[in-house]
Amino acid sequence: MEKTSIILDVDTGVDDAFAVLFAAMHPAINLLGVTCVDGNTNVDQVIANTLKVLDAAGAGDIPVARGAVRPLLGKSEYAEYVHGADGMGDLGITPSHRKVDSRSAIELLRDLIEESKEPVTLVPIAPLTNIALFLRAFPETAKKLHRIVLMGGSASAGNATAAAEFNVWHDPEAAAIVFQSGVPITMYGLDVFMRPGATSENAAKLLKSSDPAPQFAATLIQAFIERLHVSPITLGDYGAVACVIHPELFTTEVFDVVVDTSQGPARGQTICDRRAPFLKSIEPNDLTDSAAVRVVLDLDVEAVEQLWFKTIDKGWL
Ligand code: RIB
Ligand code: CA
Repeated sequence: MEKTSIILDVDTGVDDAFAVLFAAMHPAINLLGVTCVDGNTNVDQVIANTLKVLDAAGAGDIPVARGAVRPLLGKSEYAEYVHGADGMGDLGITPSHRKVDSRSAIELLRDLIEESKEPVTLVPIAPLTNIALFLRAFPETAKKLHRIVLMGGSASAGNATAAAEFNVWHDPEAAAIVFQSGVPITMYGLDVFMRPGATSENAAKLLKSSDPAPQFAATLIQAFIERLHVSPITLGDYGAVACVIHPELFTTEVFDVVVDTSQGPARGQTICDRRAPFLKSIEPNDLTDSAAVRVVLDLDVEAVEQLWFKTIDKGWL
């Protein structure tokens, strides 16, 4: 089976865990490494959570590196109300024996991209601080990136604010640098983020397996449901990884997109120019500093969900 080489940038968080499990376990993915960033919780907790998820996935020696401890300009705003104080549902998970890589996140990104014989897809599912720093520190290496498929932004409403999605809102300046980088970008945003989900019944089915990954996934699902008092809960960030290896399950459209870095109520909004072409020609008020971005607008929810369950639990029927 042909493999797609990817690097994940995470702020593990419960739904980042769903994505890391999938990326580490799916046979068509070569997970080159994982970089960690301040986001859902502090970066050192993100590292601890990520190492633990790789244990549950039975992953090999995948390098995990420490990145930015806060946004480029602003202060950290953690999502404890969603992911718990430890970012993983406050389950009291025992620490992993794995060690964090000695390189910084941007050095690991540079080395993995330079060393890869295959095109590399970068999959940020967190605030884009590491990616912005990498683009500024190693622009020649960045030119070798095949593409960026990111979880972030929205062509509709926000979640962190009325206008902005959390990953972009957490560091709008970093997001603006990434969107303007010239690297081909697919934006897996809030227009689809909430739709692939898991229920308590799914968790109960996963628990029937004696393998660590489905057991771990079931625990996270149940913790997420109990914390948010909602079912199904979203598989969230995982969808961006699925979009990399199964693009046929997703509907996309290219729009000019710009990140609002003002200090106003729209700060962190990914403004997508969805005007009809004739209108754009009449009113050529183009978005300044915009970039053409492939935006995910729809997906085959059932197929995307089943892809995750069948990957996490080899006995899933
Ligand atoms: O807005 C959703 C994003 O914010 C996801 O990446 C989730 O993990 C949180 O970081
Ligand atoms: Ca995330």
